[in-house]
This record gives sequence, C-alpha cells and structure tokens, in this order.
Amino acid sequence: KRIKLLEVRSELGAGTRGASMGPDALRVACLNKGSDYFRRFNSVVVPDLNHVLFDKNHFPFAKHIDSILTVQKGIANAVEQTLRFGEFPLVLAGDHSSANATIAGIKATYPHKTLGVVWIDAHADIHSPYTTPSGNVHGMPLAAALGQDNLAHQRNVPEPETEFFWRRLKDLGEPGPKLTPDHLVYVVVRDTEEQENAIIEQLGIKNFKLPEFRAKGPRQVAREIYEQLRFCDMVYISFDVDSLDSRFSKGTGTPVELGLDVPEAIALCRALLENDRVVCFEMVEINPTLDSENTMANNAFNILEAATEAIELRLRLDEVVSR
Ligand code: ARG
Ligand code: MN
Ligand code: MN
Ligand code: MN
Repeated sequence: KRIKLLEVRSELGAGTRGASMGPDALRVACLNKGSDYFRRFNSVVVPDLNHVLFDKNHFPFAKHIDSILTVQKGIANAVEQTLRFGEFPLVLAGDHSSANATIAGIKATYPHKTLGVVWIDAHADIHSPYTTPSGNVHGMPLAAALGQDNLAHQRNVPEPETEFFWRRLKDLGEPGPKLTPDHLVYVVVRDTEEQENAIIEQLGIKNFKLPEFRAKGPRQVAREIYEQLRFCDMVYISFDVDSLDSRFSKGTGTPVELGLDVPEAIALCRALLENDRVVCFEMVEINPTLDSENTMANNAFNILEAATEAIELRLRLDEVVSR
C-alpha cells in the first residue's frame, strides 16, 4: 500500500487570497531542503475554480459556495478513487473547506464504517451559512460533515440559492451526516465565535487546549483521543497549519497565538499516525503570499515529512502483518 498525494489548489473558501499557492510553497520548501519528497510520490492535482474570484460573489453568507461545491465533488471523487485503488490519500489543500469533501470521499468509499475525525486547528470550523460572521466557507466544513445548521444560534438569513448549495455540501458523497459529534476531537482550538462555542457545548465536543496538551504531552493526548474514538472503524486527521502558534505560522490567512510549536506538532502527528485505523491525512491553509522567506511552508514541510514517515512505517507494518 502506498501514499498518494492529492494536491488541491483551493482557496475559494478563505477570506484572504493566496492559499491556493500552499501546495506549491511546500514544493519550494522541499526543493530548498534538498528533499526528494515530491519525486517519491504519485501526485494528482484536483481541479480548482479560482478564476471565479475575478467575478462577483453572489452568496454573502457562503462566498462562492456554488463553485466550492464543484471543487469539492472533485476532491471527494479523488479521495474515493484513491482509497478504492488501495492507496493512502494524503491531501494537500489550500483552504480548509476541502475537508468536508475529504470526509465525504472517505464515507462514499466505506458507507457502513464509522468515521472518527481529529481536527488540529486554531478554529472550530463549525459555522453554517446561518451563523458565519465572515461568509467564508473554510469556517464551515465540520458543520457540513456533521449535518449541523445550528439554527438555535442563527444570525444570518441566507438566500434560497445559498441554502440549496449548502444542502448539496451536506449531502456530498452520500446524503446525511458523515460524522457524529462524539467521534470528533479538537486539538488546540482557541479562536471561536459565540455561536460556535454554543454548538460545541451543546454537542459536547472534546477540545484539547494547549495547557492540557502540554500537561499531558502528545503521546498521552493521542492515547486519550483514541480512547474516545475506540468505536470508530477509521480515522481522518485534519491539520490546519494555524494550529501552530502565530510565531511559526505567519504565512496563513488567520494566524492565532497560543498554539503548538513545530516539534509539538510533529510529535502529535507521529503519535496519531501510528494507529492503523488512520485512512487519510490532510494539511491545509498555507498562504505563502503572507509570508517572507517561505517560513510557513518550511515549518509545514518538516511536519509533512515526519507525518509521511509515520504513515509509511505503519503501511509497511500492515503489510508484514497481513502477509
Ligand atoms: N471562524 C472564522 C470564520 O468563520 C475563522 C475561520 C477560519 N478557518 C480556517 N479554516 N482557517 O470566518
Ligand atoms: Mn484554522
Ligand atoms: Mn460512539
Ligand atoms: Mn481550519
């Protein structure tokens, strides 16, 4: 079993321009480090629709949601195809709205298996068009995957066209929720809005904040995460680079202080990726236009290399066991 890189130059879901260059910035980081990373893997580029950024946006409470649906169909199909081919999808995306499609692609492949999600991010990304303060769809992938509108905390009245496309996002891959709240675990989420806090509390979603993470250490945190996900047949890990402290993540659209440092992120990813139920890993939100010297991508590439090494080790062990 091999890793397949899925590169998605998505940025329609972000509020700041430039995240579509994230995968390319990782390639530059790879070249400057003298690594053969991008030579070693088959990679597939999922089509983007970034040219619509030059047009008027028609959906204030879910900007470019029509085109985002099209991009997400491509991502979900690529993830499903990769899994069905027996390869491990490693998704490198621009903005984080992609994650709804990654989840949809996993569930389309294994509709009867229970999915767990580990969401490493400064943000909860659990807004809907009814609650979003920004209209940026990268703040919504988990609400779509959970099938949550959070109408109890509604602040926007989206037009019917927005509601139509939002339903389509929720029904991507297969109709209905892909995930239940007890099978979602946040790590270092720390920049949320009131409506998000309400839904997180209402759904009882666990969040390992930085003090708890530091007190327990990455290995213990990973153990506790897998204890909570013990009834899940498969696990998806979503790594938003703004989970890193803003000192190490200048080149991302929404940097937030009090986050992970690079060695902590590496140790966490390593510990999580040892588990043989992990079926997909994703890294998102690198924006080199906000950076100097490509430091964000250099940091992210170090994490990506460590994560990849852990995935490959585990895939080799799986082969030995199944032989
Ligand atoms: N909660 C804010 C919003 O909805 C920020 C979301 C940032 N999301 C991200 N994937 N970086 O606009
Ligand atoms: Mn984020
Ligand atoms: Mn359960
Ligand atoms: Mn995010």
